[in-house]
This record gives sequence, C-alpha cells and structure tokens, in this order.
Amino acid sequence: MLTPNLTVNAQGHLCIGGADCVSLAKEYQTPLYVMDEAVIRESCRKFHTVMQASYQGNGMICYASKAFSCKEIYRIVHSEGLGADVVSGGELYTALQAGMPAEKIVFHGNSKSYAELEFAVTENVGRIVADHLTELAMLNEIAAQQGKTVGVMLRIKPGIDAHTHDFVQTGKIDSKFGFALETGEALAAVKACGSYSNLKLLGLHCHIGSQIFETAPFAEAARVMIRFMQQIRETLGITLAELNLGGGPGIKYVESDDPRPFGDVVSDIISAVRESCAACDYPLPYLLFEPGRSIVGAAGLTLYRVAAVKTIPNVRTYVLVDGGMCDNPRYALYQSQYEALCADRADAPKDAVVTIGGKCCESGDLIGEHMPLQTVSAGDTLAVLATGAYNYSMASNYNRNPRPAVVMIRDGQPREIIHRESYADLVKNDL
Ligand code: LLP
Repeated sequence: MLTPNLTVNAQGHLCIGGADCVSLAKEYQTPLYVMDEAVIRESCRKFHTVMQASYQGNGMICYASKAFSCKEIYRIVHSEGLGADVVSGGELYTALQAGMPAEKIVFHGNSKSYAELEFAVTENVGRIVADHLTELAMLNEIAAQQGKTVGVMLRIKPGIDAHTHDFVQTGKIDSKFGFALETGEALAAVKACGSYSNLKLLGLHCHIGSQIFETAPFAEAARVMIRFMQQIRETLGITLAELNLGGGPGIKYVESDDPRPFGDVVSDIISAVRESCAACDYPLPYLLFEPGRSIVGAAGLTLYRVAAVKTIPNVRTYVLVDGGMCDNPRYALYQSQYEALCADRADAPKDAVVTIGGKCCESGDLIGEHMPLQTVSAGDTLAVLATGAYNYSMASNYNRNPRPAVVMIRDGQPREIIHRESYADLVKNDL
C-alpha cells in the first residue's frame, strides 16, 4: 500500500484512516474525495517541529492553500500553528471566514486585481508578495488611501532549474512569476519599494517549483537568495529581515517515488540558510516555508464507481469511471502518475493493465494509462490514491458535472467537509 494509513479490512475492502472506502462510496456516493485528518496533522507537525527545533521557531510554516482550499482545512492547519499562503481573493476570503488570523496570511499572485489588493489591505493581511512594479504602485496607492503601512515581500526568480514538470517550474528566468535576479530587475524592485512611503519591505520570496524530490535545488535557492540579500545590504544599506523559500517538496504518488522525509528537507534548507548567513555575516532572517502538496497530497484519495469496462482487442482496456478530468485534471495537464486499486478487493492481485477513462467528452480525459489494476467490472468501487492536493482545488464543472463532496476521516469516523454540488448549484448564477 502506498501509505501506512491505507489498510485492508476483513472483507477485503480498502480503508483510509480506519474508514471503509466501500461503505463511504455507498453513503456519500461517487465520485468522492476522502481525506485523512491524522495524515494532514502529522505533516503539519513535521514541518512545524523542524522550524521550532532547528531554527528556534524564528519563522512560520504557511500552508499553500492552492493545494486544497476550504474552510475546514484552514481550521486544521491553524490549529497546528501554521499560517496560510493564499493566491486569490477567494482563497483569502475562505481563510478569513475559517478564522485564520490575517497576520498569518501571505498573499501571492502574479496578477492580483486592484479589488483583491484592496481586500487584502482592508483585512490587514500580514504579508503581500508583490510580483511586478505595477502592483507595488497599486498597493502603495491603496495603503495610502486607507492610511496604512503595508508589509510587502518581493517575489524573486532565483534562476534555479528544478527537475520537475515544465508547467510547475517557476524559478527560472523565463517564468511569468516575479522579478529576475540576473537582469537587475530584482534590485530595481527593491529600490522602488524605498520610494513608496506606505510600503514596508519585509523581505524576499522565491518558489522554485513543485513536486521536487532533490534537496539540492532548494538549498541552492536559499544560498542565492541570501547572497542577494547581502548584495542589497552592501549596495543599498538595507538589511532585510525575512526570507520566504516557498513550497515544493515532492510526495509519493506511485511505488517508485521515494521522497525524503519533509523534516529532513526543511532541516537541510535551514542548514544552507545558516551557512550562507554565517559566510557573509548576515543576521539570520525570519524564515517562511509554504508547503502545499506535502501537507495534503498523501492524505487524500478519490473514490469512483466503475461505469463500464471496454476492451479493445490488441489495443487497450478502458475502465470508465463516473468522474474524470473534471475532478482530477492532472493527467490531462501533466501526465501525472497515480496508483489505483479496486476498493472492494484491495488485497487481490493486480492482474490487469488498464487505462482509466473519465466521463467527459474529451479523448484526453484520462486518470492514467498503463495502470496495474485488479480485474474490475461495472459497479465496482475504484480508488485513486494520493489525490489530496491539486484535485478538488483544480476541479471544474466541465460538461456541467457537479463537483464531488469531500469527506474528512478522524478516528475512523467520516464527516462531510464540503457538500457535493447539486444540479441546482450548477444553475444558481445562470440568468
Ligand atoms: N508557494 C508558492 C508561491 C507556490 O506557487 C506554490 C505552488 C506553493 C507555495 C506550494 O507548492 P507545493 O508545496 O504544493 O509544491 N497544479 C500543480 C501544482 C502547481 C503548484 C503551484 N504553486 C500540480 O497539480 O502539480
């Protein structure tokens, strides 16, 4: 089994956090996202503990809520001492509604609207990460209107090549995010902040990409950023107090994935920060990390009902399910790999190799190809594992499919944290 919280009960059914997936599928219908609260809390603690133990708590772990945003997840991560990274007015609104303190929120985005910035300033969001010069000007104007001084960070492209899918790589110079170091754009942005009387430059941010297994690119990014902070101190006489190193640690999607424990990754990055600071006698900055996938990814799975099995002789076998790219677009977007199993016979050997096809009117609507699976037939319950991150949050109503419900498991007991959308929900904004 992919993770220790997944077990098989006496009936041969797959269980997550002690809850029987076959019963969950019956009770809540399919498709259904199921999340294990214990796994989420444990991941939060791994990050939080390292920050406390290896860095004297001089920093904050902010859950990157783009991975999975709803009120309950903000409540959970907040209760574990984490802050939140939000990337839209909608995520910000949800976080605030859930009681996440504004000062523990970091607001990102390469194209925030005036209204979103106004909302963030009104709510006194702790850190706004500016992505371009126009944003700095807008932010200063809004802050002045409200008679406030706003804490900003600048998103920097450190020029790091992380080995991950091109679409989820963000630290290279050819990226729509942030200010480039090599071109002098980043230094110019730091200078620009000095001319805005209602902005307080707190520090710098970078995020090199997502689903990264190696620690070296993170450590290298930390070194590059501290060298730049030192350059700022030398050339402008400004000592920046904060460094946000983004998210990105990879998780296990299939057996061959072998991620390092998150705590070890963070502790290595912290060592790189300490060494770089010592080398140039720079005061240790307040550190922020923004893990998303590594907090919720492995905690979730998706349950589907098999609608039909279609074998095309000498070509392939399609297992057709009642969801698809509308609840999990990641294969269509990035050819992401997943492990699937028949939740009714989770112990049975995987004697077939199949393509899992979704229900959307699109040939590319697949959950995966060449996937080992038990022989299944119509009516079986299919589980796709490690779907806790970037599945619900990237779901759509394509083909007017209602978004599935999300059920959270605690001590073996399910509770619905997001209702399934109804057909009435689908038309509620239609005129
Ligand atoms: N901080 C910033 C500024 C980010 O842009 C991201 C992710 C994170 C933190 C969290 O990264 P994580 O720890 O989750 O890797 N939809 C893609 C992933 C896009 C990630 C975008 N930014 C996927 O499904 O793989």
